[in-house]
Amino acid sequence: MNLKELTMEQHRDAERQKFTSILMSGKIAPASYLKYLVNQHACYLALETHKSFKLPQEKLKRSDNINVDIAELNEDLNIDIDNMLTVSTIEYVSYVENINKKDDFIAHVYVRYLGDLRGGQMIAKKIPGKGRYYDFENPHELANSIYQQLNDDMAEEAKKVFQFATRLFIEMYESMESEK
Ligand code: HEM
Repeated sequence: MNLKELTMEQHRDAERQKFTSILMSGKIAPASYLKYLVNQHACYLALETHKSFKLPQEKLKRSDNINVDIAELNEDLNIDIDNMLTVSTIEYVSYVENINKKDDFIAHVYVRYLGDLRGGQMIAKKIPGKGRYYDFENPHELANSIYQQLNDDMAEEAKKVFQFATRLFIEMYESMESEK
C-alpha cells in the first residue's frame, strides 16, 4: 500500500462533495471562489510559517500565489475579505500550529501540496482568474521532494487533513446555499 491507496476513501469523499461539482463546473461565482481562496490562504500560511517545520522545498509555497489570485479577483469584486474564515479553517490553523512531529507535518504537506500538483491542475482550468495558485515551477522535482519524505505511517494524519479539506467544501456549499 501507499498513501494514495490508504487515503483513497477520504479523497473520494472530497471529490463527492457538492462544492466539488460547482468548482469543476466552470461556473463557480467569482465571489464564492474568492471566499474559498481566502480560506485556503489561511491554511497554507499556517503550514508555511510553522515555528518548527519547513516544506521540503521553498518553491512549493502557495500563500503568495494565492494572494495574487485573491487580489486579481477582488479588483473587480471589492469584497471585504476580513471575517471570511470558516469554522474548519480556524480550527485547522490552530491544529497546524500545534503539530509537534515532523511526520505529522509532512502528512499535511502530502495532502495539500501533492493534491495541488496533481488534481489541482484539473481545477486550474475551471476557476475564475489566472489561477496562479496552481502554477508550479518544476512540478516534477517538487512532487519528488514530497514523495521522498513519505511513509505509510502518515496515513492516519493524512486522513485528518482530508477531513478538514472536506469540511471546508461542506461549509462552502452551505454558505453558497444560504446566500441564494
Ligand atoms: C476538487 C476535487 C478534486 C479533484 C477533481 C481531484 C482530482 C485529483 C486527481 C485527478 C488526482 C491525480 C490522481 C492520480 O495521480 O491518479 C488527484 C491526486 C491527489 N489529490 Fe485530489 N482531487 C480533488 C480534491 C482533493 C482534495 C480536497 C485533496 C486534499 C486536500 C486532494 C488531494 C490529493 C492528493 C494528495 C493527490 C495525490 C495522490 C498521490 O499521488 O499520492 N484532492 N486528485
